[in-house]
Amino acid sequence: MRIGKYLAAGIAFCIVVPLLSACGRQQVDVPEKIQVGVAAYNQSDTFIGELVSCLKQQLEGVGESGYEVTMMVRDAAGSQRTQDDQVKELIDLGCNVLCVNLVDRADPSEIIDLARSSNVPIIFFNREPVAEDMMQWDRLYYVGADARQSGEMQGELVVDAIQADEAMDRNRDGKIQYVVLEGELGHQDAVIRTESAVEALKGHGVELEKLGFGTANWDRAQAQNRMQQLISQYPNQIELVIANNDAMALGAIDAYGKLNYTESALPVFFGIDGTGAGLEAVIDGQLSGTVYNDKEGQAAAMAGLAVAAVTGTGMDKIEFENEKYIFLPYHKVTQGNVRDFLYWGK
Ligand code: GAL
Ligand code: CA
Repeated sequence: MRIGKYLAAGIAFCIVVPLLSACGRQQVDVPEKIQVGVAAYNQSDTFIGELVSCLKQQLEGVGESGYEVTMMVRDAAGSQRTQDDQVKELIDLGCNVLCVNLVDRADPSEIIDLARSSNVPIIFFNREPVAEDMMQWDRLYYVGADARQSGEMQGELVVDAIQADEAMDRNRDGKIQYVVLEGELGHQDAVIRTESAVEALKGHGVELEKLGFGTANWDRAQAQNRMQQLISQYPNQIELVIANNDAMALGAIDAYGKLNYTESALPVFFGIDGTGAGLEAVIDGQLSGTVYNDKEGQAAAMAGLAVAAVTGTGMDKIEFENEKYIFLPYHKVTQGNVRDFLYWGK
């Protein structure tokens, strides 16, 4: 992996330089083992599953650069209480840095208390704690992406598609009839993505008519269900499906497949993430576009930060926003550039 190599080289540099410059001075206590405990909110979530595998690869790269690295993963399967227990277990097992994908992003206090009492830094990822909680301790970090940017890009992709094909307005009434499939209530990536996608469309002068929406918790099967309901409520009226992620866009496509819709009668679908299945669907033309959620970049940032947080070296080279945050940019994906993302970061 390209990022992996850069990271490994950077880390090797950070290990060697402080060791050399420490010669003759007082010995600094640098732990050699980096024991990373990963707590995932739900590993059956497609994007999270892929992100955790990327993190594993990145940490293997760190291992090759001279540190002894272990990674232990726990899956909370959607329960904050389970996750609190798992974090305690990970600390008891000797993890010296934690990567936490909160179940309830408004409820990190128990985890922060546990980590602080053992002085184990936490890198929260993907599910952003509220700002006040991030201020609870100075060894708390966040790695993620800017929800607004992904929504804006999705909206712009839709604008481009409408401009390229006026038949998208199937009933030729000058408006695009649309439905939205939303992620979990209260997740920073759900409400903000929807709002900013719609704002981008309106900002480009697209006339819209919202027919309805369904909450499908990032999940393909739930989205299929919600979409079946929407189709029966608005038969042959839906021209556009905006989904907060690829899994739900694919669920919407599944719903039409079940009803044996012919291709010419289908609306257009847009997702976010660029998961393996999402990219395949863009290649096939089933998904008109998606927005790449840079899991390789996020994993590399987490791995680099984990090393710096444990060893105390290299922290000054990391570019934070507001001292604790790292946000990786999103990228627009269409049939024209989708293949670039199949090997992204490799
Ligand atoms: C989002 C991602 C979704 C889902 C969610 C989980 O960033 O787009 O697919 O994985 O995170 O928190
Ligand atoms: Ca229309």
